[in-house]
Amino acid sequence: MSEANRRVVVIANRLPVAFDETNEEWIASPGGLVSALTPILRDTRGSWVGWSGISDRDFPAFTHGGIKQVPVTLSQADYESFYLGFCNGTLWPLYHDAVREPQFHRHWWHPYRAINERFAVVAASTLSPSDIAWVQDYQLQLVPQMLRSLARVHRIGFYLHIPFPPVELFAKMPWRSQVLEGLLGADVLAFQSRSSRRNFAHSVRELLGASGSGTKLHWQGREVTLQVAPIGIDTSVFDRLARSPETQETVEATRARMGAPDVVVLGVDRLDYTKGIDFRMRALQALVERRPDLRGNVVFIQIAVPSREDVDHYKKMREDIDGLVGRINGDLGEVGRPLIHYLYRSVPMHELVAYYRAADVMFVTPLRDGMNLVAKEYVATRYDETGALILSEFAGAAEQLRQAHIVNPYDLDGLAATLEQAIDSSKGVGTRMRALRRSVKSHDVFWWADRCLGALEL
Ligand code: ADP
Ligand code: F6P
Repeated sequence: MSEANRRVVVIANRLPVAFDETNEEWIASPGGLVSALTPILRDTRGSWVGWSGISDRDFPAFTHGGIKQVPVTLSQADYESFYLGFCNGTLWPLYHDAVREPQFHRHWWHPYRAINERFAVVAASTLSPSDIAWVQDYQLQLVPQMLRSLARVHRIGFYLHIPFPPVELFAKMPWRSQVLEGLLGADVLAFQSRSSRRNFAHSVRELLGASGSGTKLHWQGREVTLQVAPIGIDTSVFDRLARSPETQETVEATRARMGAPDVVVLGVDRLDYTKGIDFRMRALQALVERRPDLRGNVVFIQIAVPSREDVDHYKKMREDIDGLVGRINGDLGEVGRPLIHYLYRSVPMHELVAYYRAADVMFVTPLRDGMNLVAKEYVATRYDETGALILSEFAGAAEQLRQAHIVNPYDLDGLAATLEQAIDSSKGVGTRMRALRRSVKSHDVFWWADRCLGALEL
């Protein structure tokens, strides 16, 4: 944990809690960002500014989990144009290699600017001059510059959880200069990977004419630091759950329910078109068609959390996956023994850990991903150094987890061959897993927090 005494105010699209309208209560939300930041804020007596997740409802500030929560209100129209529209119809696909066509609409851009302003105004009202303002992610890229003109603070930081795209893609966005200027309001801009930092520095030099190196930019008389800080997980939580006798019982029961297969392959993701879920299913199909001996002996479990279901690309993706699972099971499954077990839901953490423990092979194939915490969580549960991790070269995690079976998810034959190799190697204790565990443990969420907050303390 950072030794900072300064109060840290996180400004993020979502609060780390969600409002349950049935029981009228706040409950802690799962997810990478939330699990990473909650312990830091508790320790610095900080506060969190964000949206409640419920449109058209005002909530006063309150305390939950030892953290002061400061809600920002979004109307239904804001939700549609800002969240579904500009954030997830424009920025999300553009920043993920444009694997789906980003849409550029002025009627989404204007609300994006207005809502960034709303977040900045609410944050400014809670900030003191000695505080660190730490803005999170692509939904709030204009907030750093807006805060600079609205509030006096010690430092403004910005952390991008998703990739920053190459300038050739970024340059398509009609509001590219405004977005870069918004980000450059920060003192320190941090990225998940070296490639994202490189892409950003390149864009700022090329599109705004800023000067400087890959780590320090000079812009309008100020110096902006560019940092690489790959996010990690709280490994001890996963390790503890993994070793518990209850988890072991669940693992055995789960494997027995599936007919005690020789090998279990697992995928865990938000149902997002960037995750390559369809690519991995096609590779599995290709492998089992080529190796009929695997039929009945290998099962694949895919757990997909519903996400952004009001965005057309996500609706389509769900239909595609439903169809693919049906087709593959129809062709290659047996009565009572489907090849793919597909769950479309969020599962509690102890169950998730049991699935990680049950999995001989973890299949992580994003077409582009800022980091991918699922890969790290799997590794953290393999205390006995068994198991194999297949990891896309296009996930930020691949810059750190070099000892994984690294794949190009677009290469179907390569993916199937790597799956075959991982299945064959998964049972033994491996030097690969030992090295992966060292990396995940030494670069955990506390290391990440120290690195980011350390740069903001200076
Ligand atoms: P992203 O931030 O794009 O969703 P990450 O892999 O970085 O992807 O983080 C996903 C987080 O969500 C992980 O902490 C993971 O444990 C959690 N998660 C993913 N799928 C599920 C699921 N089906 N049920 C519960 N939690 C899930
Ligand atoms: O990884 C990017 C991210 O926006 C995270 O910050 C968040 O936890 C996750 O995707 C889910 O996104 P949303 O808030 O749109 O449901």
